[in-house]
Parts: sequence; structure tokens; C-alpha cells
Amino acid sequence: MRDIGVGLLGLGNVGAGVVRLLYENATAIEARLGARLVIRGVAVRDLQKTRLAEVDASLLCTDPMELATRDGIDIVCELIGGEEFARDVVLAAIAANKQIVTANKALLAVHGEALYTAAEAKGVDLYYEAAVCGGIPIIRALREGLASDRVESITGIVNGTSNFITSAMASGGSSFEEILATAQREGYAEADPTLDVSGGDAAHKLAILAMLCFGTRVQLDAIHVEGIETLAEIDYAMAKKHGYVIKSLAMAKRLDAGIELRVHPAMVPQSWLLADVPDTKNAVYVDSYALGSSMYYGAGAGMMPTAMSVVSDLIEIGRNICANATGSMPLRSQRQLPATAVVPMSALRSHYYLRFSVEDRPGTLGKLTTILGEHRVSIANLSQRPMAEDTELIAVVALTHEAIEGDVQAALSSIADAGLSLAPPQLIRIAS
Ligand code: HSE
Repeated sequence: MRDIGVGLLGLGNVGAGVVRLLYENATAIEARLGARLVIRGVAVRDLQKTRLAEVDASLLCTDPMELATRDGIDIVCELIGGEEFARDVVLAAIAANKQIVTANKALLAVHGEALYTAAEAKGVDLYYEAAVCGGIPIIRALREGLASDRVESITGIVNGTSNFITSAMASGGSSFEEILATAQREGYAEADPTLDVSGGDAAHKLAILAMLCFGTRVQLDAIHVEGIETLAEIDYAMAKKHGYVIKSLAMAKRLDAGIELRVHPAMVPQSWLLADVPDTKNAVYVDSYALGSSMYYGAGAGMMPTAMSVVSDLIEIGRNICANATGSMPLRSQRQLPATAVVPMSALRSHYYLRFSVEDRPGTLGKLTTILGEHRVSIANLSQRPMAEDTELIAVVALTHEAIEGDVQAALSSIADAGLSLAPPQLIRIAS
């Protein structure tokens, strides 16, 4: 039986999971691949560190660049994270004719162009199932399962940490900081958790998904991104009262005018499957021409789910190596893809949840609703609640009929100019 050499760059959480899976599932993997995946080297930062997986000390080295280009390595598995160094090492590996597996969504979202171009030119495979939604085979579903279809839109919960936080905040009892600290302890959050809570990690994933769905160039900065940091307890309570659950959604949609690309918290109707996605789980709802709606659900982060995706990529590339068919999956570089217009957020049509912090004085509500009306924002429901026992402030919450985002934003500016809302208003789009 043929041996296929694997060089592992990084032995953190996911790297350790990959080692475990390759050792523990070796027999099944050999049977499915018809070859052996053999770890020939593991690049780590610190040789003395305690590991989450047992690796023969003779396999360890501290120079990822040397390992990535070493003879006997067929597939380089990049699990070091970060952007610039990861890009350089992957480009060097491609230049040395190595096949690539990476779990690094930031790398692909930021440097995908250079990597796809290099891999295509060399005819090597570049697989990245673990980069989006951890263990859910969403890349495979889009690239192969739906290869004959035309995706119209995707709506996903693609950041486990944000979902963990919004789910726990909705249940009440713990603060944002406490819940985030738990997500960090459990190893779900990124090294810099701002990427999770600010929507940046979800935007990286959406850029990759939208490129696959629509076959179009996607610039990261064209995605409208909002995080979950400003959501308050009262927003979760009001969502529940009105039959919604707050989720951080990543959305891409094909419209006549172009594509819509956005990541932000949204009020999701309690009846939707996406409303029932708990804790760190991820889910992607896809609407496509031939299949109709389909949904992909599972663990979006964590050691073994993410390692599973990495090892499945190793197996698939291994099959390509055995069949002399590497590079057969088209990796159209961004340059070759058509650029599609991105629809500006000001053109979005949505229903809105708007919360204002106002003084409990006669006439305030009237002025507020007048300004909204002057900007063509029609109110479907209006309620008010004290903000806290020790203040004179009340929270006024308006749920709107469908409105145009540009009009809503203009109304919020006028309300700020009139000095009506004593704290920045909260705007949450209602998913429909
Ligand atoms: N920090 C990411 C998340 C890990 O919370 O979803 C998986 O990409």
C-alpha cells in the first residue's frame, strides 16, 4: 500500500485533533483511501510544550518553512493561523509542488487570490473544508453537492462564539464578559476574540461562501459587518416578547442589482430552524434554484469536529494523488472571476427593531414617531419599558413595517440631531 507523507504545521487544538484522528482512525482511513496517510513531520513553536496529542519526538521541528518544502512531504497541512507568515509558507509549499490543506479562513479571505492563482498554476490541490463552519461539510456541499445548481441566497450562523454568547444572553443570568470568557476557556474563540464578537470571523467565512455560491469576486471590505457587542439584555427580552431570537447572521443574496453581503445581529422568527441553533453550533440555510431550500447543521468549532474536516480533505487529496488527478478541482483565481456589484446597505429593504433611550416627558413619543414618519418609516408596534430603576430614562421600542435602510438611517440621524435619544439608538434588522 502506498504511503502519502503529511507535514503538519501547528500542533494546537486542531492540530492535536488531526493527529488523534489520523492515528485512531488509521484503519478506516486506509480502507477508504487505498493508501496510508503518514505524518512525516510536525512544526511547533516550542519543542518542550505539553501537547494535547502524543507525537513521536523525532517528528517535531521548529521550522515550518523547511517542513513545508521538505522531500517526502506530499501534503502540507497549514494549522498555524495568522495571515502573512501562513501565506508565505503556503506559497513556498505550492512552489515545491506540495498539495495544501488549510483551516485558515482569514488567510483565504485576505490572500485567497495569490494562493488560488499559485495553486492553479502549479496544478496542486488547495482544500479548506475546516475554514468555514468547522466540522460541517459546507464547502463540499456547495462545491460538489450543489455543483449543478444555482444558489440564490445563503443565511448562516457561522461563528460559534457569537452564537454561544447570544444564546446564553437570551437565557439571562450571565454577563457578556463572563460568557465570552467561557467560550475562550473552551477553545471556541479566536486568539483575538474581537474577531468573533465584531463579526470579522463571520465575514471571512462569508467571503469564502459567497465566492463559491456565486462564482464572483468578493472583497472582504465590501461586506457590511456589525458585531454583537452593543446588544443589551433588554434587546434579548424584547426579541422574546415579540416572537424572535437574536442571532448573528451572515447573509449573501443574489439580486438583479448585484449581490447583498452582510453580517449582523438579526431578529430571527422563533419558528425558523435557524432560531433553534444552540450554543456553539453553526448552521447554513441555502436557497437554490433546483434543490430549493436545504440546511447544513453541526459543530462549527472545536478540536475534533474541525480536525475531522481537515482529515477528510487529506483523504480526498490522497485519492487525487493516487489517481494522478491533483489540481482537477477548478480553483478559479479571483482575477478570472467576474466582479459583481455589491448592493449598498442603504438600498436594503427590511423590517427593523429600533430602541431609543428617551426621557419620560410629555411629547417625546410624538416627536419620535413624527420623525420616523417623515422618513417613510412606518411603525407596526410601539412599546416602552423603564431602562433601570434608578433612572428617569425609558426604552422606547419600535418595530417597523418594511422600510428602506437609507430612510431608517436618515431618521436616526434626525432623531439624534433633535437630541431625543439620550444614548445611541439600537437598530436590529428583522429577518424575513
Ligand atoms: N472562532 C470560531 C468560531 C472558530 O467561534 O466559530 C471556528 O472558526
